[in-house]
Amino acid sequence: MAITGKTKVCGVIGDPIEHTLSPAMHNAAFEALNLDYVFLAFKVKSAGVADAVNGMRALNIRGLNVTMPHKSTVINHLDRVDLSAQIVNSVNTILNKESLLFGFNTDGVGALKALRENGIEPKGRKVLLLGAGGAARAIAYTMAKEADELVVLNRTLKQAHDLAKLLQKAVNKKIVAGSLSPSDIEQNLQDSDILINATSVGMKPNIDESPVKSKLLRSNLAILDIVYNPLETKLSIDAKSAGAKVVSGVEMLIYQGAASFEVWTGKPAPVHVMRQAALNHLKKEQK
Ligand code: ATR
Repeated sequence: MAITGKTKVCGVIGDPIEHTLSPAMHNAAFEALNLDYVFLAFKVKSAGVADAVNGMRALNIRGLNVTMPHKSTVINHLDRVDLSAQIVNSVNTILNKESLLFGFNTDGVGALKALRENGIEPKGRKVLLLGAGGAARAIAYTMAKEADELVVLNRTLKQAHDLAKLLQKAVNKKIVAGSLSPSDIEQNLQDSDILINATSVGMKPNIDESPVKSKLLRSNLAILDIVYNPLETKLSIDAKSAGAKVVSGVEMLIYQGAASFEVWTGKPAPVHVMRQAALNHLKKEQK
């Protein structure tokens, strides 16, 4: 598509940013819907976050995704932040509406949509979430609202406790916290229906690692592993062998991107186009 004086600009800020999938996904989506938008990646160091956000206003950039390590610090520079992003202290999407900057977090809805579109419903279920970092916090808030029970286990126990306390107050439900120890995992997995790995265990280059022993996995468990590089993690391979239903981390990535797309354009995202672009990009990167 030709870029003109009317083309709206979107992008992603982060550091590192070279391997981001977002330009591939969003440019394919803009093209598929014939929208006059373009999406770029900007490497922004921590010291440059304020300038980048002010630059967004000055240059009339329509939308930004925000990735590591700026999801929390960016909040100080926005005009409005929606409740879920405030609660989890993390923004991954900014909308510039007539120079007012609005912050959202689409990670939680992305995870929820990835589960639901794959036939997994957290309502009435027990969810076991591993991790308490940026992505885990957003997913935890969504699951705390949707699921019957939520358990959060994290390597650093204090993070899990702090998150559980915060969520308990926000949703008025009992949220259990624990460590990522084999015994806490085993004990909590027994009666869980859905397991979500939001730690980085199993991510390239540590592809032989899994946060859960394979013998604990079973066929009546649904699993979302948010790690998408490699496309098939050890956890997802073990889970499939055990007969469990597995949702790939790429699905969450696509649906969080789709939600951002809808914030910026006001149009339903062409999810299948975004999926194909993301998978093509990942396959190329993995060669
Ligand atoms: P993201 O934005 O992807 O969520 P993050 O905020 O750095 O990234 O969170 C990473 C998560 O993976 C955290 O829950 C982290 O646990 P700690 O809070 O203890 O750091 C978890 N994590 C990372 N490496 C891990 C490892 N080797 N073993 C267990 N947990 C790990």
